[in-house]
Amino acid sequence: MYQGEDAMEQQPEASIRNVVEQEQLKWIFVGGKGGVGKTTCSSMLAILLAQVRPSVLIISTDPAHNLSDAFQQKFTKSPTLVQGFSNLFAMEVDPNVESEDFENVEGGGIISELANAIPGIDEAMSFAEMLKLVQTMDYSVIVFDTAPTGHTLRLLQFPSTLEKGLGKMMALKNRFGGLISQFSRMFGAEDEFGEAAIMSKLEGIQDVIERVNQQFRDPDLTTFVCVCIPEFLSLYETERLVQELARFEIDTHNIIINQILYEEGVESKLLQARMRMQQKYLDQFYELYEDFHISLLPLLSEEVRGVDALKDFSKHLTTPFNLRSTNECKVKDITNLEEEASKLRQRLSEIEAEIETNRKGKQIV
Ligand SMILES: Nc1ncnc2c1ncn2[C@@H]1O[C@H](COP(=O)(O)OP(=O)(O)O)[C@@H](O)[C@H]1O
Ligand SMILES: [Mg+2]
Repeated sequence: MYQGEDAMEQQPEASIRNVVEQEQLKWIFVGGKGGVGKTTCSSMLAILLAQVRPSVLIISTDPAHNLSDAFQQKFTKSPTLVQGFSNLFAMEVDPNVESEDFENVEGGGIISELANAIPGIDEAMSFAEMLKLVQTMDYSVIVFDTAPTGHTLRLLQFPSTLEKGLGKMMALKNRFGGLISQFSRMFGAEDEFGEAAIMSKLEGIQDVIERVNQQFRDPDLTTFVCVCIPEFLSLYETERLVQELARFEIDTHNIIINQILYEEGVESKLLQARMRMQQKYLDQFYELYEDFHISLLPLLSEEVRGVDALKDFSKHLTTPFNLRSTNECKVKDITNLEEEASKLRQRLSEIEAEIETNRKGKQIV
């Protein structure tokens, strides 16, 4: 059964309008399993936001970048204006790029060794550097097209990873700072190991991290939009994601379910079976996330590429996708079945007549 009117009434509106209209939002993360439509959805969301906000930046942090494919325009690691817009910018950053911050400081040194010993520090540093850069750019809202689940959560953990690491470093500096400079002087060079440079860099970054960490945990400023498809694995991953986000205290109250089969009068047994399967998981989504805005996107016969296609498809994110066509398809199904039954009845009576004729023939012989 497709979702009834009653269920519709209980569930928050089946659209992403709540995100577009939440004027204070500064950071919007869009995430889910690979290939479910994260880039498509984050691009559409960025386009919708560009209609109401002074400036929007969409950042892809997925190493398998495909913002360029979606917009059919090449992007780099600095913000580039999206063609056809005056206030929508896009950039693709690689969270795996080794941070050269420590290596750049001459001689490496004790503090640099310590810094490098903190797990994940490189990734955390480049994420922090990127956030620092983005903050100075003063965009009204920033949409993240994130990497598949595991990666995303690690990215969101970085502020705390870095905060902990930096805390340790500061403590060490306070305990051994004097000793380190004594050593430096003993070896005849003032600040030979470059600790001062590294420490001031770290202190600067700690400030950004603290601010960003607070912002990520503020539901007025940050939200996470989960994208999925109506299949078991995706449902399972979404639940994992929602739980992890709760653990990191990051707000999430929107799910976009993509690739819904809705064709009218489907004859294919395969498609009919898949539609039944999808409905089973849709029901489970509605049951599990009754306080979420669940938006539905139909599966199209073609890919969604280019600004025009994205704009056109984005209407489903603001106007709830009408499943009535699916119900109409059921009505059609019944009509088809009745036609088929009457054909079969006719064929049956023909066969019966044939049998009858044959029998009579045999009796004559
Ligand atoms: N509802 C849909 N109907 C048809 N094609 C879609 C739909 N959603 C996404 N696509 C296409 O599927 C591919 C993968 O989508 P994409 O948004 O890049 O996924 P992800 O970023 O999660 O890997 C793209 O080619 C996109 O155009
Ligand atoms: Mg993508």
